[in-house]
Amino acid sequence: MLYQVKKLVKKFGNNIVLNNINLEIAENEKIVIIGPSGSGKSTLLRCLNLLEKATSGSIYYHNKKLNEKLYKSIQGKIGMVFQNFQLFDNLTVIDNLILAPVLNKLKSKDEAIEEAKKYLRQIHLEDKENSYPSDLSGGQKQRVAIIRTLMMNPEVILFDEPTSALDPEMIGEVLSLILEVSKKKITMIVVTHELNFAQEFATRVIFMDKGKIVEEGTKEQMFKHPKTNRLQQFLSNIQ
Ligand SMILES: Nc1ncnc2c1ncn2[C@@H]1O[C@H](COP(=O)(O)OP(=O)(O)OP(=O)(O)O)[C@@H](O)[C@H]1O
Ligand SMILES: [Mg+2]
Repeated sequence: MLYQVKKLVKKFGNNIVLNNINLEIAENEKIVIIGPSGSGKSTLLRCLNLLEKATSGSIYYHNKKLNEKLYKSIQGKIGMVFQNFQLFDNLTVIDNLILAPVLNKLKSKDEAIEEAKKYLRQIHLEDKENSYPSDLSGGQKQRVAIIRTLMMNPEVILFDEPTSALDPEMIGEVLSLILEVSKKKITMIVVTHELNFAQEFATRVIFMDKGKIVEEGTKEQMFKHPKTNRLQQFLSNIQ
């Protein structure tokens, strides 16, 4: 099992944001998480990446307790793609791509540059390697952010609403890249409300509400035959 989440609780003050989450994620699963605003989707992803510390409960990664020490030792194996890209604005595209693998001694600088150029060609941005993020469109930035996670040879990538900050005409190019990446043997967990994408991508869909996993299943079960009123209501609101 890649992840085992047991009785995970996260509170901010008195606000119980994750309320006893139990979840197992196998290697190579392609998971979509949906749910209303404030239901805890981002917080769950952030806990899976140790950006947030659980109030109680535990997370196991390859059967080992995910703590700071383990996280350091698996540096880069858990990648994350944010809504707002989080590229380094003062670094060129190529330097954004090679920074982490070179700093972490995963690759030599020459190897990293060669690989970064290969990825840039794949996303048709080879002419942007010396540009700064401010010269890129939102869709271009997000595609660079995605290949930046690939540079670390991740086992899992967590995507938090990767297209929700984009103009509509750029959403497709980013979703296509995510679908392309999904052909690799890599576990992917994507928070998104792009249901057409989810239909193509997901091997499992998870619906969260008020800090709990209310329903989960295949996309067939979840989108065609939702069991709970809450999910039926949510789907009819977003469709
Ligand atoms: N750093 C924080 N400090 C205090 N409260 C927080 C913090 N981060 C999130 N919260 C609260 O936790 C709850 C869940 O937030 P979270 O961002 O996980 O929801 P979400 O499902 O991702 O929502 P959205 O769809 O709007 O992104 C919200 O009530 C939010 O206000
Ligand atoms: Mg969120």
